[in-house]
Amino acid sequence: MVIPQTEFHQRRVRFLEALGGAAAVIPAAPLVRHHADVEYPFRQQSDFWYLTGFDEPGAVALFLPHQSDNPFVLFVEPRDPSAEVWNGFRWGCEGAVEHFGADLAHPRAELASRLADYLQGAEGIAFRVGRDAVVEPLVLQAWGQQLDRAPRTGHAALGLVAPCPILKDMRLRKSPAELERLREAARISAEAHERAREVARPGLSERQIQAVIEQHFLEQGARGPAYGSIVAGGDNACVLHYTRNDAPLRDGDLLLIDAGCSVSDYYNGDITRTFPVNGRFSGEQRALYELVLEAQLAAIASVAPGADAEQVHGAALRVLVEGLLHLGLLNGSVDDLIEQGAYRHLYMHRTGHWLGLDVHDVGAYRLGEHPQPLEPGMVLTVEPGLYVSDRLAVPEGQPQIEERWKGIGIRIEDDVAVTEVGHEVLTASALKAPAAMER
Ligand code: GLY
Ligand code: MN
Ligand code: MN
Repeated sequence: MVIPQTEFHQRRVRFLEALGGAAAVIPAAPLVRHHADVEYPFRQQSDFWYLTGFDEPGAVALFLPHQSDNPFVLFVEPRDPSAEVWNGFRWGCEGAVEHFGADLAHPRAELASRLADYLQGAEGIAFRVGRDAVVEPLVLQAWGQQLDRAPRTGHAALGLVAPCPILKDMRLRKSPAELERLREAARISAEAHERAREVARPGLSERQIQAVIEQHFLEQGARGPAYGSIVAGGDNACVLHYTRNDAPLRDGDLLLIDAGCSVSDYYNGDITRTFPVNGRFSGEQRALYELVLEAQLAAIASVAPGADAEQVHGAALRVLVEGLLHLGLLNGSVDDLIEQGAYRHLYMHRTGHWLGLDVHDVGAYRLGEHPQPLEPGMVLTVEPGLYVSDRLAVPEGQPQIEERWKGIGIRIEDDVAVTEVGHEVLTASALKAPAAMER
């Protein structure tokens, strides 16, 4: 079941409370030109979606704590048969009120003339600068007008504040309904990985595997990929954001797939699996696979209330560095290698990120000097990897890499929710035991 309107309403109540006396202006995403007069598929802005559940471009939401009878105002594209015959149904102003709980709704074209009046009486204006080149000048203009009028009206909003700290905090802690949606995104994403492994074999192309994955997303009712699917055979897996996906799969190579879907209300899955194209690990591939898996399991085991993302990263890193020492791919002591970062030519990214409406979701990782402690309802990815190639120089004092290791790129990524007692691996149905990766 999708997030119900009652939950969107509760979010707005909490947001209005947290704003104190400031009025917030939250724009929807615009349509973005792809080429000529063709646009990219529409993707709603996540904060706007989180507060409204309204999935049309160009709208603007006002949250007006100083106007307690009508605190939620939407500006939307009005109904227009001649536009809808080209681009489809719009809810219009009536729909915004009846279906999305707006107290008042106006045509989007009236924002410029109405904004200053709506903001009158607010103690501040909460607006994220630097993101919306159309709405930002209107907000600044309305604020300027208030300041001009202040001698006669007796008050003006004195500060421009950022709404994002409030929204980041709210979005970081997922409700039971949000966790359900993340489980659904995880289920579909995990099934797609299982299908991909069933069909992959030498001679197919990365693109054909991408097609299998993304077909499954669509068949299951997801919007599509949450991000550009990474389907990377052999050495391509050492390019962290590889999305060309146009090479043939070769006998003897590994295949790394980092793909997840975005469900109808935008919650995302983000899974990586790595397996041998021909169904059998080589000795080197197996050694590194088992090491990444051991690191990932150690990192997942550390996810619990009160721990933090630094500790999760640290747990994975320690296992990786110990294993690389054992395999002769690093020299020295574990603590010195970690301290000096002398492993970064083999492991150059962090072990995870928050996951939610954005794949790299909002939420602080640090609160000043301290890491953000994990709390029940937070969801993060756990995704250690190893990438052996010539792209980065081997640090001084570290062993040159023998050819037999090169071209091996491995990442294993799961989506993990923090629970009251520990954690829940949302993506557990995507297998990862070494034996399951072989056939
Ligand atoms: N696919 C992006 C990530 O894993 O963070
Ligand atoms: Mn990923
Ligand atoms: Mn990720």
